[in-house]
Amino acid sequence: MKLTALLLLCLTPLVAGGACTGDGGTCETVFSSVTCTEVGGNEESCLHATGTCENVCERANVAGYDSPCLCTKEFQGCTGAECDYEVSCGGTIDCADFDNAVHCSVSKGCKWDPSADPTDTVEASIFTVDDYMTYLVNQGVSNEEDFLVSSSPQSMALQFIAVDDGLDLGVPNGDLDTTEGYEFITRYALAVLYYATLGPRQWSFELNFLQATPVCSWYSVLQYADSSTEVRGVVCSRNATSNPTALYLTNQNARGSLPAELGFITSLVVIDLDNNRIAGPIPESYQNLSNLTNFFAQGNRLNGTFPAWILGLPNIKNINFSTNYLTGTVPVTAGDSQSLVGLAIDNNLLTGSIQDTFDTSVRVGMTDLEQFYIENNLFTGALGPNFMKDLTTLQYLDISDNDFTGSVEAHLFELSQLLVLDMHDNGFDTLPTEFPENNNLTLLALQKCSFSSQPIPPSISNLGGLKHLDLSQNALTGEIPSSIGMTNLTYLFLAQNDFVANPIPSWIDDLTSLQELSLKSTQRTGTIPSFLGDLSDLVILDLDDNDLVGTIPHSLGNLGELHILLLNRNNLVSVIPDTFTSLSSLRLLYLDANELIQGDLDVLFCSNPDFEDKPVIVASCDVCDLASSECCAVCCQGTSECNTGFHVPDLDPIWQLGYNRVHFTFGREDFLDKDRVP
Ligand SMILES: *[C@@H]1O[C@H](CO)[C@@H](O)[C@H](O)[C@H]1NC(C)=O
Ligand SMILES: *[C@@H]1O[C@H](CO)[C@@H](O)[C@H](O)[C@H]1NC(C)=O
Ligand SMILES: *[C@@H]1O[C@H](CO)[C@@H](O)[C@H](O)[C@H]1NC(C)=O
Ligand SMILES: *[C@@H]1O[C@H](CO)[C@@H](O)[C@H](O)[C@H]1NC(C)=O
Ligand SMILES: *[C@@H]1O[C@H](CO)[C@@H](O)[C@H](O)[C@H]1NC(C)=O
Ligand SMILES: *[C@@H]1O[C@H](CO)[C@@H](O)[C@H](O)[C@H]1NC(C)=O
Ligand SMILES: *[C@@H]1O[C@H](CO)[C@@H](O)[C@H](O)[C@H]1NC(C)=O
Repeated sequence: MKLTALLLLCLTPLVAGGACTGDGGTCETVFSSVTCTEVGGNEESCLHATGTCENVCERANVAGYDSPCLCTKEFQGCTGAECDYEVSCGGTIDCADFDNAVHCSVSKGCKWDPSADPTDTVEASIFTVDDYMTYLVNQGVSNEEDFLVSSSPQSMALQFIAVDDGLDLGVPNGDLDTTEGYEFITRYALAVLYYATLGPRQWSFELNFLQATPVCSWYSVLQYADSSTEVRGVVCSRNATSNPTALYLTNQNARGSLPAELGFITSLVVIDLDNNRIAGPIPESYQNLSNLTNFFAQGNRLNGTFPAWILGLPNIKNINFSTNYLTGTVPVTAGDSQSLVGLAIDNNLLTGSIQDTFDTSVRVGMTDLEQFYIENNLFTGALGPNFMKDLTTLQYLDISDNDFTGSVEAHLFELSQLLVLDMHDNGFDTLPTEFPENNNLTLLALQKCSFSSQPIPPSISNLGGLKHLDLSQNALTGEIPSSIGMTNLTYLFLAQNDFVANPIPSWIDDLTSLQELSLKSTQRTGTIPSFLGDLSDLVILDLDDNDLVGTIPHSLGNLGELHILLLNRNNLVSVIPDTFTSLSSLRLLYLDANELIQGDLDVLFCSNPDFEDKPVIVASCDVCDLASSECCAVCCQGTSECNTGFHVPDLDPIWQLGYNRVHFTFGREDFLDKDRVP
């Protein structure tokens, strides 16, 4: 009998440990009499315990995350009938020689014949790299060709798991669906991911990948200056047997591409890869991630065809692929997704019609959809009469900046929970003739469409909750209806339409919440009403390019919040009111191309100590002396239009401020296990 090495192992029942407690800082009492297999294991790995673990938690317990506690104390030994015998690699043991043997086993990382009689002699030898590779290929995890190139992520991960890995996992006896097989494959797949996204050279933060600990410890807790914290890396669910449920790699400077191997970590619920430089396609193998609820890969360089099958994953809720280079269409089956809550595929290169995909009279899904962002793609065609019809859960709908055509259907305004409807910058040509009643809608953006030869329907007042209304840059006709004066408006842009010439409407006086008003190029006549000076929240007042006459009212000097005042391209004859010295927030003032504007810009603004930041002023060369005045940016001769060139796009509010998109938030609390009580 050759007995080169043996180890006594102790099997003590697991005593359920308390979760880490303590808020922030060091975690106290972890679990009292839990025993651990591996030093460096965490609570879950203590299921296979053989040593005594100290009551020490090495990681800060971040509220809401229940970061795993690390066992730090070595195996203490044992005696008696509970003992097992283990052979180290290269050894042989005759189990019959030991009275107390329950069964024999070999230490991790050793190869042995599982069919050998465990009460008889067991021989153990060392696994070769080829043994590991054969397993990976036979299980369909990686392709043999991937191992031919020594610099491939697969080759490097193989070298790690077969040779360098301090955890010394052997080649599993069972398939991927055994505990041993799954642990192995998860470790390998995460190593492939690490190499495939250039982890060793490029990752911004050390996330403890490839450490000699279970993968559930491959993470870091980032602490920010404001003492908030964030978990990055692998997160395991607390009460499962250490299977990874989330992968957070946001802002990690990850490059390269996504490996197919990740699709084998089927316990993943969340993948968050936001804001990296990962290129290439989303591998088809991710179709196997049937527990995935959230997949975020916003702000990368993903290309290839839009992986529509992701919408078919049985549990998928939130998808955010904003700002990538995805191409292709959104097939009709996407509209059958049952579980989807939020879809953000904006800022890609997607094409085709979506009318049939989101025709809710035909498609069966989308019943939980709340956010739908597809703006800034190349979609075409009409939306049709049943687009998103009766989707009573929908709150945000942004289809702006595409090439959609046809009518804006009234039924969209019947969506009872809709808060934001942004359809701007498309080829829509017809507004509803009658808006239905809806007080929930707060933002309606229909600028830069192709509405022409039709007036604004007076029934727009049925949208009484609107705060933001933009109908600019169309060719709307008729009178501006007084019903548009909805009292909650903070933002009203009617610029660049073909309305009937008329004075600035008096109902604007009632819009006391107004912050941004543009009546640029709307054929306004008469004088500038002094009541505009009552709108004390105004930040932008744009009256550019009208037929306004008379003087500039002194009351405008009351607008202490005003940043942008555009009075250019009118027929004003006025001295700049000396009340303007109170406009200390002013950043931009256009006065050019009027009949006659007089005043001393330096005295009013540029030499005035109340103006810490000098406003940018464009005016006639009569008042705006480029040579001597600090605050004059451009001067124009007479009434000629000079302020239409280079200066305008940079500083014109339509260009500069636009519409601030309302982001939807995917709170992390949404996808952490509900039973992970902070
Ligand atoms: C684990 O979590 C599930 C719910 O996710 C719960 O039903 C179960 O009781 C938990 N098991 C233990 C041992 O805590
Ligand atoms: C998927 O989730 C279910 C329910 O939580 C769980 O029972 C199952 O083990 C998970 N699948 C994997 C592969 O982890
Ligand atoms: C998905 O899983 C099945 C069963 O485990 C496997 O046969 C198949 O190859 C996997 N598909 C992909 C694309 O990886
Ligand atoms: C995707 O991007 C990669 C890397 O930039 C490039 O090599 C590949 O050709 C691109 N594929 C497609 C389909 O555009
Ligand atoms: C507005 O939303 C609330 C709940 O958010 C809902 O109860 C109400 O019916 C909606 N109002 C309308 C007019 O649909
Ligand atoms: C206007 O806003 C107030 C305060 O947010 C709100 O209570 C009110 O219902 C809104 N008006 C309409 C018509 O929605
Ligand atoms: C997509 O994800 C990023 C990062 O989490 C987030 O900033 C952005 O708001 C998300 N998109 C939408 C539409 O909310």
